[in-house]
Amino acid sequence: MRRNLAQARRHARARFVWAVVKANAYGHGLQRAVRAFADADGLALLDLDEAQRARDAGWSRPILLLEGYFEPRDLEAVSALKLTPVVHDAQQIDLLEQGRLPVPIDVYLKFNSGMNRLGFNAHDNAGATLAYQRLRGSPSVSQLTLMMHFANADRATGVSGPSEVAEQLAALQHIAKDWPEQRSFANSAALFLRPEVNGDSVRPGIALYGAATDESHTAVQLGVEPAMTLKSRLIAVQTLNAGEAVGYGSRFAASRATRIGVVACGYADGYPRNAPDGTPVMVEGVRVPIAGRVSMDMITVDLSSAPHAAVGSDVELWGKNLPIDEVANLCGTVGYELMCALAARVPVTEID
Ligand SMILES: Cc1ncc(COP(=O)(O)O)c(C=O)c1O
Repeated sequence: MRRNLAQARRHARARFVWAVVKANAYGHGLQRAVRAFADADGLALLDLDEAQRARDAGWSRPILLLEGYFEPRDLEAVSALKLTPVVHDAQQIDLLEQGRLPVPIDVYLKFNSGMNRLGFNAHDNAGATLAYQRLRGSPSVSQLTLMMHFANADRATGVSGPSEVAEQLAALQHIAKDWPEQRSFANSAALFLRPEVNGDSVRPGIALYGAATDESHTAVQLGVEPAMTLKSRLIAVQTLNAGEAVGYGSRFAASRATRIGVVACGYADGYPRNAPDGTPVMVEGVRVPIAGRVSMDMITVDLSSAPHAAVGSDVELWGKNLPIDEVANLCGTVGYELMCALAARVPVTEID
């Protein structure tokens, strides 16, 4: 994680780097992230509980609260914890105007320029300008930063229309051309793949954990390394005769005598239940295919290409030797989801 942050910094050059640590640092542990990202300029996360935990873990630099606050008491916590909230709707500005804060806070004003989730519509000149002017004029606001989020920064080609990177940037530039405030645009994909995306601060997440942003690039191409390796062992070996099947629903039936390894890891650990037969698993350093349905606590694999494997053999489900993105793609998802789904029952060991 430390090395990946250094790689992100190389791309960011002099820009302010927010390390995105929401969702328990994408499943890697918030406290661990606070240590690993000690060289980041700020942490970006989602909720007040995470912010409190980051402060408790000793993080004293800025914290960006990615969806801001929803209730008056949230705003009190924002002030007490010295957070930088994202403000994305008018009700949040109302709250800010109603409650006088003891000390003004920094605010990220979010515009919707094509993602169409959160933010003031950058195509609504009057509405966007009003939001800007209200915040700019508020005694509760010190530094104001203009922010937006890309819908398609990971697609080099093939996307056109209002949600394309250039269009999103143009929409923001159109509305904000005379506003002197700093800007924040880039997620990992924009930071690593789109040198044309400017701005004063960047917000990488997934790349810091060593995974790709989508299937168009690998982590290796981005120059990052997997932080998480999910490991286990074989706890049993079965030999199926031709015609015998393994696991729920008998999804995998042997066409010949087949050794099946039983791995102590299942969907209750965060391994995706929809992994199809053929999804790779490393056993004793050899790739073997999943054979049969993933169950709550176990995965079964075809050991035909690993004849030396036996009870106790080392297993890697993803990580250092098996890219999480490869597993995710086969399961119809992204590395983000697999990381975030890592279950609390999985013991974590830190290695350097
Ligand atoms: C507003 C915002 N910025 C940055 C990020 C980081 O994105 P990524 O993990 O793709 O780098 C996220 C993640 O979803 C986000 O919501």
